[in-house]
Amino acid sequence: MSPAILVTGGAGYVGSHTVMTLLERSDNSEYEIVVVDNLTNAYRSDGEKKPEPLKRIEEMTGKNIHFYDIDIRDKEGLNRIFSSHNIECVIHFAALKAVGESVEKPLEYYQANISGTCTLFEAMRKYGVYKLVYSSSCTVYGEPEKLPLDEAHPTGRGLTSPYGKSKYFCEEIMKDLCRSDPKWMIISLRYFNPVGAHKSGRIGEDPSGLPNNLMPFISQVAVGRLKELLVFGNDYPTIDGTGVRDYIHVQDLAEGHVKAIKLFKQTEFSGFHAVNLGTGTGYSVLQMISAFEKASGKKIPYKIVARRAGDIAANYADVSLAHRLLGWRATRTLDDMCRDTWAWQRANPAGFRS
Ligand code: NAD
Ligand code: WQD
Repeated sequence: MSPAILVTGGAGYVGSHTVMTLLERSDNSEYEIVVVDNLTNAYRSDGEKKPEPLKRIEEMTGKNIHFYDIDIRDKEGLNRIFSSHNIECVIHFAALKAVGESVEKPLEYYQANISGTCTLFEAMRKYGVYKLVYSSSCTVYGEPEKLPLDEAHPTGRGLTSPYGKSKYFCEEIMKDLCRSDPKWMIISLRYFNPVGAHKSGRIGEDPSGLPNNLMPFISQVAVGRLKELLVFGNDYPTIDGTGVRDYIHVQDLAEGHVKAIKLFKQTEFSGFHAVNLGTGTGYSVLQMISAFEKASGKKIPYKIVARRAGDIAANYADVSLAHRLLGWRATRTLDDMCRDTWAWQRANPAGFRS
């Protein structure tokens, strides 16, 4: 059997771009790609076997993706996957990710993000698969004590949402796993704010309902799906008073995962490593609006409203460890992020349902 990479949540936003990158690059052609996704946040048209993003990736690359519509909490389902494929490593994206919703539904979030992750790890251990890339988040840092945020910054302090806590708890679980058995090789990638889309404009971010995040909200205003953007606060101690974040192109992020997998080939590599993936530069909400207006040629009407509960003024990453350890650096600019988001949104005004 050919070696395979198991991608949980591979039909979602970051997962689908990573699958695309894995299949596009010939140096990964030795691997089969196996995706497990329960489609809670991914779209499949009626009567189709595969979710729309994976169908499109297969069309673009001419390659096959093995797909399983299975919940990562389904132990028997995971056993079937691990016994049917020669899985060498796992990239674990599957999770619920809406910060606000997690406050309303903590049990659902802890179930999916923590129990699901433990069930996956049990299956990995059972089948002797110890290489893992985990989707973590800058949210584990809480309110920054200093900027830029490096990986030595304390984590878990003052986290307010069950979502954020679930990412922090999973990191603690992974540290314990690595202490318990030196066979584990875990890279926890702490994403800053992923935006953008594949340059083809055929896959991209497709939030269900009202977008929670800034970039999809702006692009839905630009395409006419939403009337205006609400800017949450202009009284932060930042360049123009609006919140500052480290936006990173999803293609750069996807390439970070490919680099992480390459590290597993080094025999001296083991244990738990947390690595920031960002650009190292922060942009304010107003800067994002103006960059998007330039890329799209559309006016983005907006209104300043009160701060959003739980928001911080600013964050951006120290990305030097990613460069040292993974040999990775983000190469795409803010203009690239806006151009590619717009190409996706314009071609797919209603997302994958278009
Ligand atoms: P997404 O919702 O687009 O993708 C997650 C995928 O996982 C979806 O396709 C969903 O159907 C699937 N899924 C959810 N629960 C599952 C379960 N129990 N079993 C099987 N599949 C399940 O989200 P995304 O933006 O691609 O995020 C991917 C990962 O990156 C998540 O772990 C998220 O927490 C993390 N992350 C995302 C961001 C961001 O802003 N997008 C930032 C930091 C970290
Ligand atoms: C960015 C800026 C808002 C929407 C979230 C999660 C975090 C991580 C990344 C997963 C802020 C402002 C937003 C809007 C606005 N995800 N904004 N109007 O809050 O940095 O992080 O996504 O791990 O955990 O919390 O991203 O895109 O929601 O907000 O003014 O309609 O845009 O206040 O300053 P955030 P965001």
